[in-house]
Amino acid sequence: MTGRFFITFEGPEGSGKSTQIKKLQEFFEKKGFEIILTREPGGTKPGDAIREVLISKASGKLEAETEMFLMLAQRCEHLRKVINPALNAGKVVLCDRYFDSSVAYQGYGRGLGAEKVRKAHEEFLGDFLPSLTILLQIAPADGLKRANHGGTKQLDRMECEEISFHERVFDGYNQMAEKEPERIAKVDAVGNPDEISKRIIAAVLKRFPELA
Ligand SMILES: Nc1ncnc2c1ncn2[C@@H]1O[C@H](COP(=O)(O)OP(=O)(O)O)[C@@H](O)[C@H]1O
Ligand SMILES: [Mg+2]
Repeated sequence: MTGRFFITFEGPEGSGKSTQIKKLQEFFEKKGFEIILTREPGGTKPGDAIREVLISKASGKLEAETEMFLMLAQRCEHLRKVINPALNAGKVVLCDRYFDSSVAYQGYGRGLGAEKVRKAHEEFLGDFLPSLTILLQIAPADGLKRANHGGTKQLDRMECEEISFHERVFDGYNQMAEKEPERIAKVDAVGNPDEISKRIIAAVLKRFPELA
């Protein structure tokens, strides 16, 4: 049996994923659910080590395929050892980035192609996808401004990519949302965090009316 509530957050850098996922955690907590909040890349010890390779500037420029395989490798550990067991135990799983990030970043951003990335994921990890994906909507340049705190925070290897890369990623996400409107809910991420949280909860209730 697989649990019903596997919800992922996607969107450009600085779109508010980490901020909003905590607010959605509070919503589910108030409803009495057991929740795990996790992230990609990461979610396990080896996954966190792979995350470091992916986001550290010391890695320099990686081959697009290398990025994709590292993402799949960390996801294999994460899915089998953390996500599936939690869902099977009836927990709510909230995950900051997942499958759609691979398609958006390596498929569209790096140019590997959405289909190739989707097929690689399916071939090794199966066709099991989140029951709902919140896609935060903000212009990539505005998200990046938030992410570097007005110039005080160092950007990581991915955040440092040129703006055209981030635009391709965002455009890719939106193409994916058009193809899967049931699963991927676009939410305006401009405004104050509490307003945005209300929009996200509305999308959750639309997808799972039984939670109301
Ligand atoms: N709605 C918002 N408006 C303005 N700034 C925000 C908002 N939500 C988050 N932030 C700030 O923007 C930065 C990036 O937010 P974060 O949640 O870390 O985004 P992400 O995880 O998508 O990269 C943080 O400094 C955060 O405090
Ligand atoms: Mg974050």
